[in-house]
Amino acid sequence: MSKSAILSSSIAKKYWMAVTGLFLCLFLVGHLLGNLQLVMKTGEEGRRAFNEYAYFMSHNIFIKVLSYATYISILFHAVDGLMLALQNKKARPVNYVYNNPSANSSGAARKMAVLGTAILVFIVIHMANFWWKMKYSSEPMPIHTYVVSSTDQTGQSKTDTLYYTHTPSLQPVPTNPMIVVKNGTELYFKDVNVKVGDTYKDLHKIVMSFFGKSINGAPTNQYALFAVILYVLSMAILSFHLMHGFSSAFQSLGLNHKKYMPSIKLFGKIFAIVVPAAFAIIPVLIFLSK
Ligand code: HEM
Repeated sequence: MSKSAILSSSIAKKYWMAVTGLFLCLFLVGHLLGNLQLVMKTGEEGRRAFNEYAYFMSHNIFIKVLSYATYISILFHAVDGLMLALQNKKARPVNYVYNNPSANSSGAARKMAVLGTAILVFIVIHMANFWWKMKYSSEPMPIHTYVVSSTDQTGQSKTDTLYYTHTPSLQPVPTNPMIVVKNGTELYFKDVNVKVGDTYKDLHKIVMSFFGKSINGAPTNQYALFAVILYVLSMAILSFHLMHGFSSAFQSLGLNHKKYMPSIKLFGKIFAIVVPAAFAIIPVLIFLSK
């Protein structure tokens, strides 16, 4: 088969959809484990855990490579899926070599394309709200600061607002006009241009306020309830998409051994329910905890 035929035949399309789809399932598991920190730990501890995780995710070279593989997989999976659905729509019946008619019927492909398109719309909205803000927005990102209370020598109680730093700083770095933030997260003494530490972007605050929870009295998204509903509905759609897609991917790869297929199908169903449900519960819990 020529190179172009490998990429363009329906069998090849289904093969690449299966490979990218299963890779995206792995992404979902990793992404879910990271996001669960938003609700597993609360208060300042949860905020630190999530912002440290977000920092790690955007600075680790291995994760960066995985991120690019994720973007490419989303695009490839979506384009191939739509092309396959269009190909199937053409009146001529297509004879697949696979042996599961329901998994390969043009009706199933069309349903998967509709569900997939809805998920793609969700991903675009989702990335515009978090990923774009974190990486490319011209508006400055909030910086992670925290308040400590103490008593001075005269017994008077006082509070200080400090930057949460990760480069070991000899002293805690207070927020005051002498300290400025450069390049997103680097802290400098303003007048002498000497670096005093590195702090974190407060992605936790952005996510929390998006779903209606105020951090240290900061204003929240006035459409938080709609955001929560959008996420819950999108996760229901994701669940339907995975319910068919997971086991179908194994068939497309030819891994439909009689002995293992029932277990793969069962695992696929559990995956399709548990993963989207766990994602959906995050915005609900944040919204209810305000
Ligand atoms: C409660 C649910 C979710 C929350 C709170 C959430 C949160 C976030 C946040 C904060 C980011 C930006 C930081 C980062 O890159 O790690 C992000 C990125 C992203 N999210 Fe989500 N997410 C959720 C569900 C989903 C779902 C269900 C999908 C896919 C269907 C998804 C796809 C993505 C993608 C593709 C990125 C870019 C990842 C990268 O740059 O490596 N997210 N999400």
